Amino acid sequence: MGLSRRELMRSAGVLAAATGFGGLALSIGATAGAQTAEKQAVPDLPWPYKKIDPLVVAEAAYAGYYKGACCYGVFEGIVGQLKKEIGAPYTLFPSTLLVVGQGGVADTASLCGCLNGAASAIFLVTGAMESKKRELPYTIIQEVFNWYEQTELPDYRPKTPKFDIVKSVSRSTLCHVSVTKWCKVAGFKAFSKERSERCAWLTASVAKYTAELLNSHADGAFKMAHPLTAATKTCRTCHDKGSKREDTRAMQDCGGCHFTPKAKTAHPKL
Ligand code: HEC
Ligand code: HEC
Repeated sequence: MGLSRRELMRSAGVLAAATGFGGLALSIGATAGAQTAEKQAVPDLPWPYKKIDPLVVAEAAYAGYYKGACCYGVFEGIVGQLKKEIGAPYTLFPSTLLVVGQGGVADTASLCGCLNGAASAIFLVTGAMESKKRELPYTIIQEVFNWYEQTELPDYRPKTPKFDIVKSVSRSTLCHVSVTKWCKVAGFKAFSKERSERCAWLTASVAKYTAELLNSHADGAFKMAHPLTAATKTCRTCHDKGSKREDTRAMQDCGGCHFTPKAKTAHPKL
């Protein structure tokens, strides 16, 4: 091609230099890229936790309810604070996912969205894949669920509420039961603005209690304060895991569905 040996050497040198330089640039690029990728890689659970202010969480959850509903409100009330305190990996989490818990999952009124959001937040910071390591997060979650069944709620009044809200006891973790029992006490309809505000207060209440539990867990001081009721424990001795009949998995207040004045199931042996 008419290139002299010298020219060939020169262009090879330029090429070598270019490759060297280019290669270096590439490897810098690759290292920087790898570091960024490493920083951005979503780690497995549990994610790091720092104590957060339960009152700040409650207010954020209340606002979150009016943005993405109950489940999102509780979750983002907590995780939003961790985003501020810790940053990544929390900043990488698409909290919009939690919107689907709305109204007992997709508005079907099954598991209360507040509880769904609380369970998700708890598992995010204390959970793990190994089945042995699920025991602690599950205990914290069960504490929130039992507290919810047994306590007069909502027990947090937001700073600037839209209405004043009366309390009720659900004896159930179901959105349907919880809402309907409140409607009976309050005298408002299930699709009223007041009921919506009640669920916003409930979102704040559940987020606050969950943050308190996570904080006490961070201090190594978590204890279950709300075990199943004595009546429910009695039922489970004959019906739950390890019992002779073992015909239920219900780790919840049995009386919420069985033996209520209206939804009565006559017990043959009691
Ligand atoms: C001492 C043991 C014992 C305890 C405690 C107990 N059960 Fe039972 N339960 C039984 C037995 C035995 C049967 C089945 C009776 C039969 O089929 O004749 C039964 C049946 C039932 C049934 C089915 C009823 C039906 O219509 O077929 C329900 C629901 C039930 N129990 C709920 C409860 C709940 C809720 C509690 C607690 C409030 C409870 N049980 C406590 C022993 C117990
Ligand atoms: C969310 C409502 C709900 C809760 C809470 C609940 N149950 Fe039930 N349970 C049901 C329904 C619905 C059935 C099915 C009734 C039917 O077969 O018609 C049932 C059935 C049963 C049966 C009958 C099983 C059979 O063989 O017929 C037993 C026993 C039972 N439940 C025990 C319990 C116990 C014990 C608890 C508390 C630890 C409990 N349940 C909590 C709704 C509930």
